[in-house]
Formats: sequence, structure tokens, C-alpha cells
Amino acid sequence: MLSFNEYRNMVNDAILAIPYPKEPENLYEPIRYTMGMGGKRIRPVLVLMACEAMGGNVKDALAPAVGLELFHNFTLLHDDVMDNADVRRGMPTVHRRWGDNVAILSGDTMLTMASQHMSKVAPDKLPAVTELFNKTAIEVYEGQQYDMDYEKLANVSVAEYMEMIRLKTSVLLGCACKLGAIIAGANETDADNLYTMGLNLGLAFQLKDDVLDVWGDEATFGKEIGGDIMNSKKTYLLVNALAKADDDQLTELRRWLNDEFAMKQEKVSAVTAIYESMGLKEQAEQEIKHYSKLALEALDMVNLPSEAKTLFTQFINDLVGRDK
Ligand code: IPE
Ligand code: IPE
Ligand code: MG
Ligand code: MG
Ligand code: MG
Repeated sequence: MLSFNEYRNMVNDAILAIPYPKEPENLYEPIRYTMGMGGKRIRPVLVLMACEAMGGNVKDALAPAVGLELFHNFTLLHDDVMDNADVRRGMPTVHRRWGDNVAILSGDTMLTMASQHMSKVAPDKLPAVTELFNKTAIEVYEGQQYDMDYEKLANVSVAEYMEMIRLKTSVLLGCACKLGAIIAGANETDADNLYTMGLNLGLAFQLKDDVLDVWGDEATFGKEIGGDIMNSKKTYLLVNALAKADDDQLTELRRWLNDEFAMKQEKVSAVTAIYESMGLKEQAEQEIKHYSKLALEALDMVNLPSEAKTLFTQFINDLVGRDK
């Protein structure tokens, strides 16, 4: 097997080689911009790693791996419109640079390009690959809708939050792992255990994203710190804060959440202080550990060479310990 960096280089080379028509420039330039501005590439790398780990040939997994990264980046273009985000990967977001209409249409194009890439698999694998990809895509949209709905809801339970992040984020990591396994011709049990590994890794991953949105370093994280607080987003932190707050804390929290004209720095500092007084950063880190442990347990159930197990273990640990 290769190292994480070697898999990522393969993915980046394949992404650079994507041919784009010249025109309309305002449709394709934002796609080139988005695909070229980096990102961790964890989903396509997981596809390649899972494929090789299960005895397949990475070359067979490269097009669908790129397809999954195109899909992920499409969701980001639309997500940044929905979340009104200014910065991604340290660069202005597409909707800020080109406007919402361009972000919508370039995103649509990326989704279709994703399907085109996804279908470049051996004919005997195509039905399973298509079914998994389509099912996952719709789950992501469901999760994004809950994410939007929950901004407006006064009370969201931790269970509802976990289901929301399972849909909006985790299923795509599960899909990446299972996709690689399917392309390699793995048996169903191994493919399903890899899916469970990716799913639990995805839960830990989104919990970490929520933490970094509050306590991350803007330059490293590449996104604006406090964006979730400004949107009154029902993150793991806010959901738990609302559940744990005493009367005074609840009054203060609600006042900030309902204040449409609050100054950004004031609101972010005040809500962050409430989170800190409740020990929610530590609580979230515990939860991240819990789900990464579940991911490792699922990995343990897959029939894999020890080299592959070591690589996945390293991957999981790096991802939950990340600062970007
Ligand atoms: C961002 O995903 C969206 C979430 C699910 C939190 P990543 O953190 O993988 O973003 P990039 O691709 O590395 O920029
Ligand atoms: C990630 O949600 C889910 C999707 C993009 C589908 P976030 O809204 O938390 O992602 P970031 O933080 O903007 O990357
Ligand atoms: Mg979002
Ligand atoms: Mg967002
Ligand atoms: Mg986020």
C-alpha cells in the first residue's frame, strides 16, 4: 500500500487533469478555482485506501474517487451560500466572488460531473456503485435540510443533532470506504464494516469541525471562526449548552441567539465564554474520542492485512487530532 500523501498526490494529479470546456467562463472558472484550492482530500483518499486494502487496483478506483471529491466540493459551494460563509480553504468563497447564482450553477455542474466520474467503473460494479452514491447524495441533502431547519428551532436534542450530522457529513465518509471495497470486489461483510468505520469516523469528524469552528485558528482552519455561532447553528456545543444551562445562562444564551444585530466579535466571545464555563470543549473532545474508538472497532472487524490496518488507524487518529 501507499502512504496517505502518495494517495493524495494521485488524487490531486487526477483532479488537475480534469478537462473543462472554455466557455461559459463564469461556469467553469469557479469549478477550477474550487477544485484547485486544496482541501484535505480525505474522501477520495479513503476510496483509494479501501480499494487497495481489499485487494483491488487503485487505478480502478481513481475516477470514482475524483467523482466523490467533486460531489463533496459541490456540497461546499451550496453550503457556503446556505451558511453565508465568506472564506473557505483560506480563500473567498465562490458565492462571495461570483455571486449566489454562479455558486448554484457551478455546483450543479460539479454534481453532474461527479455522476459522470462515478459511472467510470467496471460494468459489473456499476449498479452497486450507482445505488450507493445516489442513496448517499440524498441523505446528505436531508442532513443539510435538518441543519437549516434546526437553526430556527428552539430545542434540538443531542440525538437529533447526531442524526443530522450522520446525514450531512458521516454517510459520505462511509460511502467513500464502501465504494473502494465494492470496486475491489470485497465481500459484503467487509464492505459493511468499512462503511461503519467511515460512518463513525464521520461523526467524530463533524464533532471536531464544530469544535474548530469555535476554538480553531482561522489561518490554519481556513474558515472564519465563529461562523456557527453567528448563524445560531445547532452544533454539538449549542445543543448541549441549551440543555445544560441554568436559568441565567439560558436567558443570556437566548438573548444572543435572538439578537439579529449583534456585533460579531461580541456575540462570538460571549457564547464561547458560556461554552467554556460549561466545559463543553472537553465534553466534545470526549465524544470525538468515543466515535473514533467506534471507528477503530469497526476497522478491527474487517479482514485486512496488518499494513492496511495500521494505515487506517493512523488516518483515523490524524483526522480526529487535526487542527484544519
Ligand atoms: C468540510 O469538509 C465539510 C464538513 C463535512 C465539515 P472538509 O473538512 O473535508 O473540507 P476540505 O475538503 O478539507 O476543505
Ligand atoms: C458540513 O457542514 C456539511 C456539508 C457541507 C454537506 P458545515 O456547514 O459545518 O461545513 P463547513 O464548516 O462549512 O465546512
Ligand atoms: Mg453547513
Ligand atoms: Mg458551512
Ligand atoms: Mg462547520
